[in-house]
Amino acid sequence: MPRPTPSIDKLNEIKNRIGTPFHLYDGGGIRENARELARAFSWNAGFKEYFAVKAAPTPALIKLLREEGCGADCASLAELKLAAMCGMSGDEIMFSSNVTPECEYQYAMELGAIINLDDLTQVEYLKKCAGIPKKICLRYNPGGEFKMGNFVMGNPGEAKFGMTREQLSEAVALLKKYGAEEFALHTFLASNTTNDDYYPSIASILFETAVELSREHGVKFFMINLSGGIGIPYLPNERKADIAHIGGLVREAFERIMVPAGMGGAAVVSELGRYMTGPFGWLVATAIHRKDTHRHYIGLDACASDLMRPAIYGAYHHITVAGKENEPADHIYDVTGSLCENNDKFAVARELPKIDIGDIVVLHDTGAHGHSMGYNYNGKLRHAEVLLEGGVNHPAKSADLSGTPEFRVIRRAETLDDYFATIKDYV
Ligand SMILES: Cc1ncc(COP(=O)(O)O)c(C=O)c1O
Repeated sequence: MPRPTPSIDKLNEIKNRIGTPFHLYDGGGIRENARELARAFSWNAGFKEYFAVKAAPTPALIKLLREEGCGADCASLAELKLAAMCGMSGDEIMFSSNVTPECEYQYAMELGAIINLDDLTQVEYLKKCAGIPKKICLRYNPGGEFKMGNFVMGNPGEAKFGMTREQLSEAVALLKKYGAEEFALHTFLASNTTNDDYYPSIASILFETAVELSREHGVKFFMINLSGGIGIPYLPNERKADIAHIGGLVREAFERIMVPAGMGGAAVVSELGRYMTGPFGWLVATAIHRKDTHRHYIGLDACASDLMRPAIYGAYHHITVAGKENEPADHIYDVTGSLCENNDKFAVARELPKIDIGDIVVLHDTGAHGHSMGYNYNGKLRHAEVLLEGGVNHPAKSADLSGTPEFRVIRRAETLDDYFATIKDYV
């Protein structure tokens, strides 16, 4: 399937207005994908996707997803504020944080967010700093290795998140004593997996554990939170998760475990990030230098501070050259940024068409954990974000964004004044 690629005309139009680099998002694609997810879980009356704000913490995107029925999953004060700025409160917000300071719990309580406790010790901590809400969620970490068949999918035994099975029991007993009335259960055991069995596997674990806890303590579970983790096909021939199939398999587990236990009224929810916006974003940059030494380098005006994933995870992001999508990939380049770090490479020994200085280079699937992981090393300024408004079909279907959707700058680029704004002690 051809990769969806914004047209060179649209890219030039935006570049002429704001320059490169910038992040571009396909609003129509995000909407259609959110609708597919909602359809896949429509069998559950309480289903809601709490968009993991950390993936793309920009109000225009959060609001767009809210229009599609999504809430927000937040993990910090700033993320809670963002959700509030987008008009959210109460059950629309999950607060799935860890190592949480008092002020964050206090603000989450003020908003009426559903608080997801990462640890048993947090029961007393929360009681002391903000009080115990009537509805509360607990994060489970079953430990060991998380396997599906013979395949190790994750290593919860080494993860800092969540509490053990015994601690869950203790937490429920304590919270009940302190006035909590309804419970939710959450876990996150593998990241970026396109295996359709991931959600059904953790759903079964959560459903069984919730049934046990409910029986042990005589408490109601109002929600099961499958969290994030559904991946996207970053690699050219990787398969896409089949969300309708996943929804159907989770339903089977729900009907097998929850319904016979009289817990069929519980909501099943997700807090996906990557799956919601990842494939619908591109980092758009310009080739500004070429260097031929022991390798052939193309230097961009974007660097790892604009997109960190290749540098820290060695992650693959597909690259196309605007207007040269159909040219043969007969050159081999390292595509780099300008940081004083040798891992500042978007691609290593990648086969690409001949790249000329001034060409627009497009990095794909950067719509989640892209701009949001940006940083200011070497004094690099964070780039702008641009939203292509409605009218764009889901790229997987159209594979062509060459229509004329309007674009809107939803975050301006940082300036040197922004960069220096925090410095107080200078002469
Ligand atoms: C608590 C929590 N929920 C949801 C997510 C979203 O994960 P993903 O973007 O992989 O779906 C994350 C990611 O770090 C997370 O930590």
